[in-house]
Amino acid sequence: MSQFPRALITGAARRVGAEIARQLHVDHDLLLHCRRSRDEAATLAATLEATRPRSTRIVAGELGDEDARAQLADAIGTAALDLVVFNASRYVRSDLAAVPADRNRELRDLLEVNVVATWDLALRLRPALTAAARARGDAAIVVILDIYAQRPLPGHEAYSISRAAGSMLVQALARAFGSEGIRVNGVAPGTVLWAEGPQRAETEALLTARTALGRIGSPADVAAAVRYLAGARYVTGSVLPVDGGRGTCA
Ligand SMILES: NC(=O)c1ccc[n+]([C@@H]2O[C@H](COP(=O)([O-])OP(=O)(O)OC[C@H]3O[C@@H](n4cnc5c(N)ncnc54)[C@H](OP(=O)(O)O)[C@@H]3O)[C@@H](O)[C@H]2O)c1
Repeated sequence: MSQFPRALITGAARRVGAEIARQLHVDHDLLLHCRRSRDEAATLAATLEATRPRSTRIVAGELGDEDARAQLADAIGTAALDLVVFNASRYVRSDLAAVPADRNRELRDLLEVNVVATWDLALRLRPALTAAARARGDAAIVVILDIYAQRPLPGHEAYSISRAAGSMLVQALARAFGSEGIRVNGVAPGTVLWAEGPQRAETEALLTARTALGRIGSPADVAAAVRYLAGARYVTGSVLPVDGGRGTCA
């Protein structure tokens, strides 16, 4: 890799993560994390390498498993790491009528991927972030959250709980890491890309009607917010809504 600042993006292979990678690659070398989407990650890396060789590396691993996270942190190493974007997330429906063993496992699985993994990796990568902060005077973590951290999404209650915890995690880590020059912020998107699955038709009209700008956003809107927070050297502990004014509507 070159002398560009080094950034890690989780869940970078496709959808929003891939757009964040494309926008950050302008002035960062990238560690592209993926889990299952290895082919998509390889295609993305090849595209980016065509504009700047030796500027990307793929790191793979399950985020819901502590041993896998330890291996991932080892693969990333302790060299200065300027930016970590926690983009990967688990997004599944809640089944409140499920037997306790199943519904409790659903919440635990969501918390493990959406909260514990972020907490764990942030702490494991702290020395590399501190090294970057010492070298360049600044290092940053950006956690992609969701507007449904603020209010429950019906049918996705456990997911919303995990996002609310993620919002507090941003503030807690911002306070804990601030003296080391590591800033921690969040981005809370509204709808920027439809979830994969069959429910799209009935929700599209409803959601756009309840968004001040009258349209959904795009992955590029989230990536632009990440770029802003990556360079906003006096901003920490903030969660920036990127929701087209969805939060202003009933
Ligand atoms: N799409 C939206 O409109 C929207 C709205 C609000 C918030 N967000 C948030 O914005 C971010 C990106 O959205 P998205 O729709 O692009 O996300 P997504 O497609 O649902 O997920 C992004 C990536 O997360 C990775 N991932 C999921 N579970 C994982 C696990 N257990 N271990 C490791 N990786 C895992 C997957 O990587 P692999 O494919 O490699 O397995 C996946 O490609 C997410 O945090 C999402 O919650 C999105």
